[in-house]
Amino acid sequence: MLLGTQKINAAGRLEISGCDTVELARQYGTPLYLMDEMVIRERCRRYKQAFDERYPKNIICYAGKAFLTRTMCKIVEQEGLYLDVASAGELYTALHADFPASRINLHGNNKSVDELEMAVNSGIAHVVLDNFAELEALSSLARAANRTVDVLVRCAPGVDPHTHKFISTGQADTKFGFNIKDGSAMEAVRRVLAAPSLSFDGIHCHVGSQLLDTDAHVGAVDAMVRLMKEIYDTLGATCNVLNIGGGLGVRYRSNQTPPEFERFADVIASSLKSDLEKFELELPTLQQEPGRAIVGEAGVTLYSVGAIKTVPIMEAPGTRTYVSVDGGMSDNPRPQLYDAVYELIVANKANQPHDQVVTIAGKHCETDVLIMDTLATELEPGDIIAVQTTGAYNYAMASNYNKVLKPAVLLLLDGEADVIVERETFEDLLRHDVIPSRFLGVRQLTQTG
Ligand code: LLP
Repeated sequence: MLLGTQKINAAGRLEISGCDTVELARQYGTPLYLMDEMVIRERCRRYKQAFDERYPKNIICYAGKAFLTRTMCKIVEQEGLYLDVASAGELYTALHADFPASRINLHGNNKSVDELEMAVNSGIAHVVLDNFAELEALSSLARAANRTVDVLVRCAPGVDPHTHKFISTGQADTKFGFNIKDGSAMEAVRRVLAAPSLSFDGIHCHVGSQLLDTDAHVGAVDAMVRLMKEIYDTLGATCNVLNIGGGLGVRYRSNQTPPEFERFADVIASSLKSDLEKFELELPTLQQEPGRAIVGEAGVTLYSVGAIKTVPIMEAPGTRTYVSVDGGMSDNPRPQLYDAVYELIVANKANQPHDQVVTIAGKHCETDVLIMDTLATELEPGDIIAVQTTGAYNYAMASNYNKVLKPAVLLLLDGEADVIVERETFEDLLRHDVIPSRFLGVRQLTQTG
């Protein structure tokens, strides 16, 4: 599977946006995250255009949790998207990229007072309210700051998205948002309307992530429009905004076929319009928050092959070949967390048939298999493996497990590679590591006296 601007160059190597990936691995070291700028921009544009053509009153907020750096904020801003942030850290990153606060929504099921204060003081577009305590806290913070804060009320639409349970959020039994069925959502709207420092702007939901069909989104639109109607009838309030979250899936493997943006937009726009018509409601601004769909397929991670081992397998006759690489669950915890699957290309032998079954393992002190039983060429130490579709929730979820350094991130465009996140150094590892003074300059005490 070749994605975006990827091709196999005359040297038989994987090239991305005109950059030879084997050269990049040599120059910058591995593991290395590569992000294809054209793909990010093209997906921002196509997603937006797909909806502009079918439901012009719409706003696309990129979900920063998928991949956020200051350069990414610049791209999002240049492409005319809004930004969804899920913590003070994401908000801080955006504000320090001079991303316009008036285009930022803040999420979170447990926002701290500090986070709410930061939101109030920076004048962001919306705080997406998640619970009653937060509603009260935000109301008094806004009052104290003499401001009015626009809010969306996050609701749990009671839709099961049929994705991995850790990334399902739309069902009724969830920590996120106000339950619609038990009346909490209506009560939240009522309290917002009664709070002079809060301005009710609409409702929000997010059903789940890596969704490969449109069913859950259609179910959510239906539930949310019904709620809009109930809000209007019972409280006389209009939802200016209907935010249906993100969730559209990407191709991790060639056999995965998420709906194209245009088809997704067709389905969403038509079911929204017919629901609104049915209930005789005015068209709200449709907001969405795609994260993975924007950056997932733009990313590739390069690794160097190290130890290779062939072992007998227990379940059946035969052997399994473990190819260990120089990264693993620290740069991509998704296989462990969500049973995520990936595909690879051997970057330095991209033109050779990938007809051998191997298992790509990480370097961590546990069974961190990155890809179980995948196809590759005959591998040897020093080969460069490119794992596809690592643009979303890889860099974002990277850790220093085993005190492994987080890789650099390069942004590729037209044969140029720019470092947008530097590789960590050993000094970085110790930057916050403190030895209390009583441990310094004192000889080891012994128990024996
Ligand atoms: N909006 C809200 C409120 C969300 O909670 C999320 C994702 C999104 C938008 C963006 O969803 P996307 O379009 O990227 O599917 N770490 C997991 C994914 C967790 C998603 C959490 N919320 C993973 O690696 O699959």
